[in-house]
Amino acid sequence: MLWCWCVLVCVSAASALRVGVGIADVTGPPAEIGFMGYANFEQTGHGIHLRQFSRAFVLEDGRNSSQRIVFVSVDAAMMGQGVRREVIKRLKKRYGDMYTENNVIISGTHTHSTPGGFLMDFLFDLPILGFVKETYVAYIIGIYKSIVMAHTKLTPARMEYGEAELLGANINRSPTSYLRNPPEERAKYQYDVDKTLAQVRFLTASDDVLGVINWFAVHPTSMNNTNRLISSDNVGYASILMEKALNGNNTHPGKGSVVCAFASTNLGDVSPNIKGPRCEFSGKVCDQESLLCELPKERCFASGPGRDMFQSTKIIATKLFETAMTVLKQPGEDLTGPLGVVHQFVDMPLEEVHPYDPVTETFNASRNVSGCFPAMGYSFAAGTTDGPGAFDFKQGTTSGNPLWDAVRDFIAEPTKEDVECHAPKPILFATGRIKFPYSWQPRIVSCAVARIGGFFLAAVPGEFTTMSGRRLRNVVRKTAGAKKVVLAGLSNIYSDYIATPEEYQAQRYEAASTIYGPHTLDIYLNKYVELTEALLNDAGLAPGPEPGDWSGQLVTLVPPVLWDAAPWRRDFGDCVRQPEPHHAPGDTVTATFVAGHPRNNIRHGRSYANVEKLESEEDDAWVSVLTDADWETKFIWQRNSKILGTSYATIEWEIPPGTPPGKYRIHHYGSYKYILGGIYPYHGFSDTFEVT
Ligand SMILES: *[C@@H]1O[C@H](CO)[C@@H](O)[C@H](O)[C@H]1NC(C)=O
Ligand SMILES: *[C@@H]1O[C@H](CO)[C@@H](O)[C@H](O)[C@H]1NC(C)=O
Ligand SMILES: *[C@@H]1O[C@H](CO)[C@@H](O)[C@H](O)[C@H]1NC(C)=O
Ligand SMILES: *[C@@H]1O[C@H](CO)[C@@H](O)[C@H](O)[C@H]1NC(C)=O
Ligand SMILES: *[C@@H]1O[C@H](CO)[C@@H](O)[C@H](O)[C@H]1NC(C)=O
Repeated sequence: MLWCWCVLVCVSAASALRVGVGIADVTGPPAEIGFMGYANFEQTGHGIHLRQFSRAFVLEDGRNSSQRIVFVSVDAAMMGQGVRREVIKRLKKRYGDMYTENNVIISGTHTHSTPGGFLMDFLFDLPILGFVKETYVAYIIGIYKSIVMAHTKLTPARMEYGEAELLGANINRSPTSYLRNPPEERAKYQYDVDKTLAQVRFLTASDDVLGVINWFAVHPTSMNNTNRLISSDNVGYASILMEKALNGNNTHPGKGSVVCAFASTNLGDVSPNIKGPRCEFSGKVCDQESLLCELPKERCFASGPGRDMFQSTKIIATKLFETAMTVLKQPGEDLTGPLGVVHQFVDMPLEEVHPYDPVTETFNASRNVSGCFPAMGYSFAAGTTDGPGAFDFKQGTTSGNPLWDAVRDFIAEPTKEDVECHAPKPILFATGRIKFPYSWQPRIVSCAVARIGGFFLAAVPGEFTTMSGRRLRNVVRKTAGAKKVVLAGLSNIYSDYIATPEEYQAQRYEAASTIYGPHTLDIYLNKYVELTEALLNDAGLAPGPEPGDWSGQLVTLVPPVLWDAAPWRRDFGDCVRQPEPHHAPGDTVTATFVAGHPRNNIRHGRSYANVEKLESEEDDAWVSVLTDADWETKFIWQRNSKILGTSYATIEWEIPPGTPPGKYRIHHYGSYKYILGGIYPYHGFSDTFEVT
């Protein structure tokens, strides 16, 4: 009895923190759904390269179990209010008031190669042809599952902080905008993007790693807008590499107990395409300001560092992974102290604040500035060098075009106040004024600050540029007297970009997409000071206005799967193109199967395609060595005839060096929709082939 009591007391005294980690599959519908990010109508999915995962971290104050923080990093383009509300609704049903809008932070990694249609705000779902319930539900269920898993695995833990510089993995894609910031401010920084990889890690009493969260500012746009296979891009692959390294190389992606996130931060103007912008045909460096090339129709876009987008993704991912492993092996700083979190919904156009002076690092109390109703500028439609836009728009546009003005006015005319408020931005879409069919962009955003001892996490509802992020970290650091401040990007609600007021004047893509006007950042700087003070003083904070819910009136033009059929004299799962009988590392094995539509069953936590190895000839025992979530495999689905409903799935396996020799086969799983109704599973194998 006495011994028991001592163990309890000793454990709770040694470790005031309890931590649980969880991971779940959130892969969206793998075919025929538009990808979210590049706003390219033609970029619809037709298979999987890397599956999407939700990585959840639940932190509990060991002294007061009602003090909790949930941080989730999702392989998604961003997080949306609808998904978050539904996740919290389900958590409330299961756990009561333990998890609420106040303490659940969900941050998207910002991959541009995953299915969209889950945001509800009309402008964001427009390139996807509207709302897609399948994507929406995939996120809700998967995120919820990952949090439940983390909750059930809560255990006493320590938290440590570490960081390292990573060069050669990111560049600024709007360097001329960055130069608009005051020289005195720029002089404080060596680079025009952040080069620090920040890491927190959770360790058991015996120093085993439970989980790791890394933050490094870079757009997951190594996969470009021609990619049509679902991918978590550079940061997603870095997570898979790190999880393999810590869980063992034989662990399938998403199945290990150690969870490692590479979460988004102030990546607004940061590109992984480090070769920089070049002309499509001539290969010459394009004009930095206008991003124009000599030939008409010749586009200017950035790429690199690899020979193609897959190799570029792998190179950036490997740099992130190796840097994170280096930090992990170095001694860290213990983060002990109180746990807390505050949250507020903010109606941006109604905010009136004192502007921030980045030179003196003070707010100017003799001036007031305010937010605007949401609107997008012309340069938004130009896209960026990571994904050029579809129309004849150029970045840096500060004057309108009569045709587009007419289109714009037909949708909703900006008021005189809008025009003045957003100046010098020429308004392309006055999204804040459009009521049809429902909201086009959010007016109300979500702001949160969490702390664990001297570590502060500012969760922001959009893409802060490099300098915007630095200003936000500085004001939080100053207010809190804290040493470590990290910004969690694209959290909870998506409200596009946040450029500095100086960058805003240049009206490049990021500024044109700063939707509450030139003082958007000033409002956030004031708000996060207020939040940090409330957190420090343990003062109550008004919850703010609840964002609207129009989930009952969503528009969709995405057709459902009608039916599937196998070609004449064939069955679903038949292998119609067999692999070669002999292969060697470096080869790509290809097998094609008669398939059903993958939207019939998303196969979360499972796979459409496994590579299997024969372990024992006499028992015919096969072990699956890779799934469709592994880097080395690609699952490619193609509709053969919409009318007949026939389709094929091609599975590719790039055999890496070091693959053990032996007998292998490809195993395909799927489901077909019968023409008279019902969805039925099927599977099939390729012939056995030899790897030598
Ligand atoms: C524990 O935390 C909750 C939530 O912040 C608070 O209301 C409560 O007073 C705390 N209890 C103790 C014993 O400190
Ligand atoms: C896992 O694979 C990597 C790269 O191939 C290798 O360096 C490492 O030693 C392997 N780890 C284990 C535990 O086998
Ligand atoms: C995308 O990458 C591929 C190589 O993987 C390249 O051929 C293509 O030109 C790139 N397109 C754009 C728009 O970046
Ligand atoms: C504050 O703004 C006013 C009005 O624009 C300006 O005159 C003054 O110099 C500013 N004060 C500081 C401390 O920057
Ligand atoms: C700024 O706004 C506050 C609150 O609305 C108001 O009291 C103050 O007079 C305003 N100051 C200026 C300089 O307009």
